[in-house]
Amino acid sequence: MRHPAPKGPLLIVGAASHGEVVLDLLRSLPEPPEIRGFIDCGTEGRFVGRKVGGVCVLDGIESISSYAGKVAGVIPAVGDCAEREAIAARVRAAGIPMLAAVHPTSHLCSGVEIGAGSVVLAGALLGVGARIGIAVIVNSGAIIEHHSVIGDFAHIAPGCRLAGGVRAGERVWIGIGATVLQNVCIGPDAQIGAGAVVIRDVEAGVTAVGVPARPIDERDRVHPEIDIV
Ligand SMILES: CC(C)(COP(=O)(O)OP(=O)(O)OC[C@H]1O[C@@H](n2cnc3c(N)ncnc32)[C@H](O)[C@@H]1OP(=O)(O)O)[C@@H](O)C(=O)NCCC(=O)NCCS
Repeated sequence: MRHPAPKGPLLIVGAASHGEVVLDLLRSLPEPPEIRGFIDCGTEGRFVGRKVGGVCVLDGIESISSYAGKVAGVIPAVGDCAEREAIAARVRAAGIPMLAAVHPTSHLCSGVEIGAGSVVLAGALLGVGARIGIAVIVNSGAIIEHHSVIGDFAHIAPGCRLAGGVRAGERVWIGIGATVLQNVCIGPDAQIGAGAVVIRDVEAGVTAVGVPARPIDERDRVHPEIDIV
């Protein structure tokens, strides 16, 4: 299955490293869209007036509304989930559409849905009926299996493997190489550490690490013999 490619002219909102990744994705499309420029978000450094990958950083995010009606849409391109949500709110308020982009080397099975402003990077696989929310990052080589549901503004880092029926809430961040077993629910704002294996549900806002994954604050209860008294 193919996802419709974004049509330009468009803006990439975020001019730091993830912005450059999104630029590379857009340039890899069979018909690369015209990229009008980057918009700087400020939190990862100041880039206005510079070039990133040969493309100008035109303005700061505070000027986004001046592009309404002048571009076909924007792609939010910062790695931080809460910041991507804030960018989406500003873009929406400015009346500018958000566009999704899918790398040509990724594979989408039938029935996959991808929300506005989301990106699916190189080599990712989305299984049958997987649903990806708004402004989500499905990073390089991630596997999101059948019927999983990924909430708005989540970030699934490179090489993650989510089995079938996983549910990840809004702004969930799953670290590089983590594995999540089938039908597990991860609450909004939870973070999963790199390399973790998540075998049971994770509550909202909790950071869970390790194999099997446990909330960071609870690890001492698992190994009381190493408590310092
Ligand atoms: C889980 C994570 C978010 C925690 O970050 P943090 O809140 O800053 O936590 P700290 O680094 O202070 O570590 C707290 C404790 O958790 C442990 N820990 C942190 N990450 C861990 C991981 N992935 N696996 C196992 N233990 C981990 C630390 O060793 C430390 O243990 P201690 O209390 O016994 O010393 C982070 O370590 C992580 O794994 N991030 C994923 C990064 C990633 O995937 N980046 C890809 C971006 S595309």
